[in-house]
Amino acid sequence: MESYIMAPHHESLFKFSPKLRLGILASGVGSNFEALVKATRDSFLQAEISLLIVNNPNCGAVNKAISLGIPYQIIDHRSFPSRSEHEQQIINAFQKSDVEILVMAGWMRIVTSLLIKSYPDRIVNIHPSILPSFRGTNAIKQALKSGVKITGCSVHLVNEEVDSGPILVQVAVPILKEDNQESLSAKVRKQEHKSLPIGVAIAGKRWREANYG
Ligand code: GRF
Repeated sequence: MESYIMAPHHESLFKFSPKLRLGILASGVGSNFEALVKATRDSFLQAEISLLIVNNPNCGAVNKAISLGIPYQIIDHRSFPSRSEHEQQIINAFQKSDVEILVMAGWMRIVTSLLIKSYPDRIVNIHPSILPSFRGTNAIKQALKSGVKITGCSVHLVNEEVDSGPILVQVAVPILKEDNQESLSAKVRKQEHKSLPIGVAIAGKRWREANYG
């Protein structure tokens, strides 16, 4: 059964001159981060990853950044007395790298208005469900448990409510009788890798058009 990407998809969407400068936030495996790097290197998306920030020193995303040659910083939330001081450090790092769009690619921290107001309508998140269904953690498990026949993923802008900002891209993934957590996660993840670069391009185009005409 096919999955369908629900988003505009014409070639000009992915063209940026100069290249769109991206900052990535990741906490885990980093497969979405890797997919974005690939999209920029295949020249599918005219962008460059200026900086990856992780909060978990030993997460898979760090190893991927090393092997892909992407600049990264470990900014561990456990080293900061408050959420806002942690976020301020992140903002400083992205500003220094002159980042235009932030991408939460498996960022397992709730973000506050400090970060959101520093990059209004410029923070993109990927979530493994068709929002507004199955917000929060364990979205795949929630979908399996609920008995729905279709789930998928959403790329959206981040606002102050978790998994609730304006939707940029959605992909539907059918749930088959034989699916389990592992098989469904793999199918959804595959669609995430395709849809995240599209969502980033949409956010980037809106930002460039609003600011540079
Ligand atoms: C993805 O499923 C994403 O939707 C969610 O966290 C997961 C990150 O996976 N927000 P990865 O680290 O990109 O492999």
